[in-house]
Amino acid sequence: MRNFWNNLKKPFLVLAPMYDVTDFVFREIISEIAKPDVLFTEFVNTNAICSFGKEKATKDLCFSKKQRPIVAQIWGTNPDMFFKAAQEISKMGFDGIDINMGCPERSVVKNGSGAALIKNPNLAKELIKATKEGAKDIPISVKTRIGYSKIITEEWTSFLLEQNLNALTIHGRIANKSDGKTMWNEIKKVASLRNKLSPRTIIIGNGDVKSYKEALGKYNGYKVDGVMIGRGILSNPWVFKKDDVVKHSKEDLINLLLKHTKLYEETWKNTKNFNALKKFFKVYVREFKGSNELRQELMKCQNYNQVVETIKELEGANLT
Ligand SMILES: Cc1cc2nc3c(=O)[nH]c(=O)nc-3n(C[C@H](O)[C@H](O)[C@H](O)COP(=O)(O)O)c2cc1C
Repeated sequence: MRNFWNNLKKPFLVLAPMYDVTDFVFREIISEIAKPDVLFTEFVNTNAICSFGKEKATKDLCFSKKQRPIVAQIWGTNPDMFFKAAQEISKMGFDGIDINMGCPERSVVKNGSGAALIKNPNLAKELIKATKEGAKDIPISVKTRIGYSKIITEEWTSFLLEQNLNALTIHGRIANKSDGKTMWNEIKKVASLRNKLSPRTIIIGNGDVKSYKEALGKYNGYKVDGVMIGRGILSNPWVFKKDDVVKHSKEDLINLLLKHTKLYEETWKNTKNFNALKKFFKVYVREFKGSNELRQELMKCQNYNQVVETIKELEGANLT
């Protein structure tokens, strides 16, 4: 098996899967400026990969060499679909497959998928088995939480560790309560259970980490092998840079915004709405003099050229 998880130098950093955020374009930008050690795609529905919506699913699953090692995250409830989706993903050249067992969104759990699998270990086991059979020679991992409506860390993660996973990501919250702090002590319990039950499974901790320094603290304090960062990238696109804590200039941020916008337009053409890009404006246009006004004006734009013109007008920058 080509198991990249075993070749990572610890502690390693992982970009979290974030639906509608970590698309091909954002991953490409991040990989250029401060690359995480591992990237995950947004979650993609197994039915879509296998049948209807296949074209969109394939778009959600495109990646470049620069983004490797990259793991495709999938969700659903039907073991046959997991088998077929795993075959497809393996053929596409992904480095790994991750099964989502943590998403608390109503539209996902109402059908028994995502975090609802925490309440249905029999199905979870079948899905893991089917994915392994379909994937053949790439590693399988699960991303989950420490319980559904109450904390059941030991019971749930012991069960998962018995499934011989190559990696397991624990977001230290329960599904029913996404507010409140991440319970890193619960994540630590998983790391020590792993030592007993499945020493070869890589453990990744996730929740509320906003810098490499904090990630190092989690690695040393909670005995995980790697740390996954999600929302931290939205407050600092350079969050994965291990050797540099410089505050980036307004020019750096604006150039990144332009690069992102251009690549978004080139990649998605008219298949993704320009408005869906606008959530990134506050990632790049913030905390500098005039940023609020510039952001408000940018929200009115409908294409790359308008973004360039707006920046020229408000910032007087000499942009090409
Ligand atoms: C906008 C958004 C979309 C998300 N989409 C996914 C997803 O597709 N799959 C998944 O496993 N988790 C998803 N998550 C959860 C994150 O991967 C991560 O577990 C969570 O944000 C906690 O980590 P953080 O505190 O570093 O952000 C999403 C979170 C956010 C904020």
